[in-house]
Amino acid sequence: MSSSQLMSDPALETLLLPLETGAIDLEPAARVLFLRARAGRALTAFNDHALVCVQSFAPDRDALEKSRVNIVAETPEENFDAVFVLPGRQRQEARAQLASAVIKAREGGVVVACAPNTEGAKTLEKDLIDLLGSVQKLTKNKCRVVWETIRPGAVDTALLEEWRRLDAPRKVLDGAYVSRPGVFAWDRIDPASKILGDLLPDTLKGKGADLGAGFGYLARTVLEKAPKVSGMDLYEAEKRALDLAQENLAGFKGKRSMHGIWCDVTRGIEGPYDFIISNPPFHQAGKADRADVGQGFIRAAAAGLRPGGEFYMVANRHLPYEKTLAEVFASVTQLADEGGYKVIRATKRKGGQRDAPR
Ligand SMILES: C[S@@+](CC[C@H](N)C(=O)[O-])C[C@H]1O[C@@H](n2cnc3c(N)ncnc32)[C@H](O)[C@@H]1O
Repeated sequence: MSSSQLMSDPALETLLLPLETGAIDLEPAARVLFLRARAGRALTAFNDHALVCVQSFAPDRDALEKSRVNIVAETPEENFDAVFVLPGRQRQEARAQLASAVIKAREGGVVVACAPNTEGAKTLEKDLIDLLGSVQKLTKNKCRVVWETIRPGAVDTALLEEWRRLDAPRKVLDGAYVSRPGVFAWDRIDPASKILGDLLPDTLKGKGADLGAGFGYLARTVLEKAPKVSGMDLYEAEKRALDLAQENLAGFKGKRSMHGIWCDVTRGIEGPYDFIISNPPFHQAGKADRADVGQGFIRAAAAGLRPGGEFYMVANRHLPYEKTLAEVFASVTQLADEGGYKVIRATKRKGGQRDAPR
């Protein structure tokens, strides 16, 4: 696999440390499962093994594809000699992922998990002890890696069963939506999205897109309030969120056109759209604030709109989006500044002029 030009990833490097030090010794042909896999130089540690990576977040999936590893969106059926996992930050989702890792390891196989110290490393260690009775551990790069062999009789099977279901989809918000732990603001309406949703005009019409659709709140708000909207395309990087969004908009099927697109929006979108809405992400798993992702959303929106089309977005007031908006849109208006959020409407220049760059 190619490992050049990959950024350093402390959690990934620490996860694979026990392989490097020899603390875990896998047979050359060992079958290895990597849940929430990420690409990085450290992946070369798996070069001799039969590796299957699971990743439902499109940017990480894309990076893994470039590394030419075997990648799938859903956990495969069979059991593995070793299961590695980089659990998410949300507690219920992390426990479900840990339980899934234990379930996917064969008896005598090993489960290995790692988290940054600031993202629940201590809890992760305790959780694996609760499941498997004991753990071994190493700390480095401000991260902790914990691992244990699956020994018959040592696994707390009742706890395993309880945790396995912790991130299952369920009704939220008085039954109005289906959601699950781990997706953005999973059991509430995000205040920024609420402000944008309330401000979106009921005169919107034609074909729209929601960039970073989450579990579908904004797209559904548009379809509920604007009868002249003929359809919405839902763009979302996290497959688990996109599946929920499609379920939450199922009531409009057959009445309005609808497509779910599992992709990294910063790589560009389809179109042309009459209007686009977005509450862009401002950080990504395990990384600090990422204004560049929101800026990528703005560029993608400008490129995906028809001439004269409108982009409505909401963002934390401090995020530096104005320069990018001014670069790619003909006019930019701030519609609201409340609760620490700004709502912006940006209009693409009319026909006959150069398209905005992607
Ligand atoms: C701030 S949330 C908004 C979610 C939803 N629209 C709402 O209002 O509740 C941003 C969403 O963008 C998704 N996302 C993050 N990075 C992305 C990317 N590069 N491409 C597409 N979607 C992305 C996240 O998974 C998340 O669901």
